[in-house]
Amino acid sequence: MRPEISAVVESPLVQIATAAEAMPGSIKLCYGESDMPTADFICRAADEAARAGHTFYTHTAGAPELREAIAGKIRELQGVSYRPSEVMATVGGTMAIHVALRALVGRGDNAVIVSPAYSIYVNSVAMSGGESRQVPLAANGARFSLDLDRLERAIDAHTRVLVVNSPSNPTGWMMTADEQRGLAAIAARHGVTVLSDEVYERLTFDTDIAPSMARWIDDKDRLIVVNSFSKTYNMTGWRLGWAQASESIIRTLYKAAEFITSNPASIVQQAGIVALRGGEDYVRDLRTHYAARRAQVTAALGTLPGVVLPEPMGAFYAFPRIAGVTDSTTFAAELLRATGVAIAPGAAFGPSGEGSIRLCFAAGEATITEALERLVGYLSSTGPRRPGL
Ligand SMILES: Cc1ncc(COP(=O)(O)O)c(C=O)c1O
Repeated sequence: MRPEISAVVESPLVQIATAAEAMPGSIKLCYGESDMPTADFICRAADEAARAGHTFYTHTAGAPELREAIAGKIRELQGVSYRPSEVMATVGGTMAIHVALRALVGRGDNAVIVSPAYSIYVNSVAMSGGESRQVPLAANGARFSLDLDRLERAIDAHTRVLVVNSPSNPTGWMMTADEQRGLAAIAARHGVTVLSDEVYERLTFDTDIAPSMARWIDDKDRLIVVNSFSKTYNMTGWRLGWAQASESIIRTLYKAAEFITSNPASIVQQAGIVALRGGEDYVRDLRTHYAARRAQVTAALGTLPGVVLPEPMGAFYAFPRIAGVTDSTTFAAELLRATGVAIAPGAAFGPSGEGSIRLCFAAGEATITEALERLVGYLSSTGPRRPGL
């Protein structure tokens, strides 16, 4: 086996989830998804699509109507113009990220990644034979911010891409306009492409939407935006996402995708069109639901001694730092054993995530209430002598 592939480590999230599944009464808050089923109008659309004969291959980049619907949604939400040929449907945001990083990074190259971050970036870069340079967010008490100087210092002549995810998994941090402007300027100064992962763009709490990097970078040869249906429409298992960039980049990416996954499932693409056209009320309700869950989490953890909780501005994760925890993986295992609550260790998101835990608050009210009671009880009883100390 090639070392680039065999060196990929199983996600600690999978390990925690597997252990939780074997425990009766456990609560799984370790994955990035809600426990709500996909909306009925989307399921019906898939059913109808199957019966209407949408059961054949489509163009690798997706059916024309889907690419049009995505381009239309980008215009409607972000006020930027992308043609359908500048959009490519993918098997989840995952595929878009992977194929983009494979296309950009090779042996001898590096990718600069704003961290803590979803582990797909470092793993895709590793599978490409490249080097990841993780640049930690600055943590000022209970606030994260982008350290632009540090980011720029990490770039050298071998840097091919700058990866940023806002709203962020796992921190809930959302880029400010100044940070977006600064990042765009750095990328332009060094001639580096930006990969902007915007899968949580709709899940924001204090604004209607997270502004896309496409508002700041006009040159579509220098920006690849990744998005997904997974989080916006509770369609994680359906595997539908997209990439947007210049026509020439999109053509390069779909030529490669042809021999990796080919097109996303035809039936799912049709359901995606219906979600985009008729999903606004659904998204509004979802945001209200997650805002209430965020309020529950911040009320329970925000003032707990020994816990520093940066307020999540978007996505559906809380990423508290727990005083005394230096091995979050051991802490997560002990927490699961003692309380049945499965969370993700901060270390799963890179070295700068160590000392924190990630709790996904996308579940229903009763589940979050129960999980928080158990977690707060555990933190209060273990005090400063915590596992992982
Ligand atoms: C930041 C981020 N990007 C991309 C993805 C991939 O999502 P999907 O492949 O389901 O679209 C996830 C999933 O958790 C994520 O958190």
